[in-house]
Amino acid sequence: MRLGIIIGSVRDGRFGEGVAQWFIPLAQESAAAAGDEVSIEVIDLKDFDLPVLTSATVPGAANKQYVDERVQRWSAAIDACDGFVFITPEYNHGVPGGFKNAFDSLGSEWAEKPVAFVSYGAEKGIRSVEHWRAIVSNFHMVDVRTQLAFSVFEDVDEQGSVAPTDSHADRARALVGDLISITGRLVTTR
Ligand SMILES: Cc1cc2nc3c(=O)[nH]c(=O)nc-3n(C[C@H](O)[C@H](O)[C@H](O)COP(=O)(O)O)c2cc1C
Repeated sequence: MRLGIIIGSVRDGRFGEGVAQWFIPLAQESAAAAGDEVSIEVIDLKDFDLPVLTSATVPGAANKQYVDERVQRWSAAIDACDGFVFITPEYNHGVPGGFKNAFDSLGSEWAEKPVAFVSYGAEKGIRSVEHWRAIVSNFHMVDVRTQLAFSVFEDVDEQGSVAPTDSHADRARALVGDLISITGRLVTTR
């Protein structure tokens, strides 16, 4: 099974990069402990330079065929994964627009796959995750209940680097474990 960890902020100087650097090694450890068949793919939205969705064809009806080469590459990256972790900030009490546009730009690549959430923000990004849970339901994605949340003020050291408490590490392992377990069951039936 291949799990895609998506870094969802594309902002210069993004806090999300620090969250990803903290979370990814833990996720890789948990994946290795689960066995050889689990692999982790890091998918950085910033690498795709996706255009704002303007195509006349609704992505859900595009049969994974897109005119723009950047969207085609994004499609292939998402299609190759069996489950996801969304590393997401909260912007204006909701999901970040760039990440939502990236989600909207595809269709069946997301369908019936599990997704877990790692959020952050001034108030830990909880509202963003609640919005994501509603959004991903449109593609029958299975949202993992266990979630991880960081405060951009409290979960940092004096230099501003991400430095959460030990309970975050335990929670990260539980989140990846739950994602692997649910993905494993869905992979066999999808
Ligand atoms: C456009 C914008 C809107 C924001 N709105 C919220 C908000 O509603 N709630 C919150 O807790 N933090 C909010 N923040 C603060 C962000 O959570 C914080 O800046 C975080 O570092 C953004 O993630 P990023 O740096 O990875 O892009 C907002 C930040 C931006 C840029």
